[in-house]
Amino acid sequence: MEEKIGKILLCREEIQKRVAELGEEITRDYKGKNLLVVAILKGAVPFMADLIREIKTPLKYDFMAVSSYGASTHSSGVVRIMKDLERSVEDVHILIVEDIIDTGLTLKYLKENLVARNPLSIKVATLLDKPDRRKADVVPEYNGFTIPDEFVVGYGLDFDEQYRNLPYVGILKPEAYLSEG
Ligand code: XMP
Ligand code: MG
Repeated sequence: MEEKIGKILLCREEIQKRVAELGEEITRDYKGKNLLVVAILKGAVPFMADLIREIKTPLKYDFMAVSSYGASTHSSGVVRIMKDLERSVEDVHILIVEDIIDTGLTLKYLKENLVARNPLSIKVATLLDKPDRRKADVVPEYNGFTIPDEFVVGYGLDFDEQYRNLPYVGILKPEAYLSEG
């Protein structure tokens, strides 16, 4: 698996340090507030698991799964909810946790969908931001790292459902796209 990684973009230690900083910031911002962390399956799982353990204020968490129609590496903006939240969100502050914001279309849809449910507030925490390809004007309140327009894998991010378990974020070698195995 690791021989398919051309370059490590963010190592384990860098990620850990940044996640701790984000956790501190979020702790400060949500002290005394009713916080619901909403992680977007599946990519956000490792980030979310590390992040919540750096947030030192009470919270609840839940998951949503969405699928966008169209090509696998490019989001179309047409999104379908595959798994929804368990409860109403009218009395909570929502923090959406994402792995990566690329075009921003997925997040724009999600935010609009959640706003319609009248939560107290909605903010976004993303591990990675790839602003070069942005089509929708969504800006994350908490961003781990801004990265160039490269397809990355690891720490939750996949190519064809693989590489999610790498403890770092790396760029795949072109040969990995041509023949998986
Ligand atoms: P949009 O374009 O709607 O899409 O912001 C966000 C979703 O697209 C996927 N995505 C990636 N997945 N490496 C990945 O493994 C990448 O470099 C990448 N860029 C976008 C991802 O599923 C994300 O939630
Ligand atoms: Mg994916």
